[in-house]
This record gives sequence, structure tokens and C-alpha cells, in this order.
Amino acid sequence: MSLTLSQVTDLLQNHGQNQYGMEAVSQLEHALQCAHLAEKAGETPETIAAAVLHDLGHMLAAERDGLTEIDTRKDDLHQFMALPFLRGLFPDAVLEPIRLHVDAKRYLCRIDAGYWAELSPASQHSLELQGGIFDETQAEAFMQQPYAQEAVRLRRYDDLAKTPLKVVPALAHFEFYLKHVCI
Ligand SMILES: [Fe+2]
Repeated sequence: MSLTLSQVTDLLQNHGQNQYGMEAVSQLEHALQCAHLAEKAGETPETIAAAVLHDLGHMLAAERDGLTEIDTRKDDLHQFMALPFLRGLFPDAVLEPIRLHVDAKRYLCRIDAGYWAELSPASQHSLELQGGIFDETQAEAFMQQPYAQEAVRLRRYDDLAKTPLKVVPALAHFEFYLKHVCI
């Protein structure tokens, strides 16, 4: 069931041209901006790879449903969608921040007073579909999980990776990290 590396990059190139939900960037622009922010912050190759791939589930869900864009009326559970396709290809250090990046938003809304207001309207909307803000017990349990810290940092890059027309390195640049970390 695992994809090959070239299938992963094909998916990013092809479905990546579609708009990223209600944001003003394409899905590929979003992935590259997210990875670029992770790289500039000095993250590990695994976390940079997770940044490239964190929304691959949106692309797989769109392909499954024959859609050219994300259906924003429902939660497509994209954080889980990509995992079976990537499990044989990448280690947990890549997969777990992807799995946890939606819950990281729910966590950050709980612990950072200004975080919710800084989210884009699209992200505030999806938060409700994704279960809303964590309560204190949920927030504590979240941070007990391996790679929760990485997921929280990934989430911060994710939230900032929505700048129209921003110039960032091409996918070929980030393929280095994907190749470096694949099993
Ligand atoms: Fe994202």
C-alpha cells in the first residue's frame, strides 16, 4: 500500500497545483513554504520532510473523491489519510508530526492566548470541524506523545505558510530531505 518516492513527488506536483482550501496559495506552494520555514529554523531532515508531506492526505482524499480542491464543508481527516501510504517509506519521526499536526492546532489554541486570533479564517473554520480547542486534560495528554514538540513547531510553520507569491525553493530542493530520510 505504500507509495514510492516518485509517486509521492508526482502527487505533490500534480494535485499540488490545486488551491489550498480557502487560502490564497496552491497546495504545493503551501507545502514548500512550510518546508522552507522548517529548514530556515534549523529543523532535522525528518521534520523538514514532515513539513513537505503534512497535507499529502488532502491530496489523497481529493484524488479518492475525484475532487480538484479540498471540500471545506467537512473534516477529511487528512492527518491520518496519508499515513498508510507513507508508513513503509518513512520513519515515525516523519509520520508522527504529520499525524499530530491537527491536534497541535487544538493544543496551541489552549495554551497560547493569542494563537486562535492569528489563525486564518479557513483554519479557524476547520478547527471547529476537527473537534475544537483542547481542554486542559486533552492538552496535557497531547504533549505526552512522542513527537508532539515537533508537531507543535510544524504547526507554527504550517500557519505561516500561506503567503501569496512568496519565492521559495522548488520541490526538487526538498526532495533531498525526502530521499535522505526514507527507509
Ligand atoms: Fe498545512
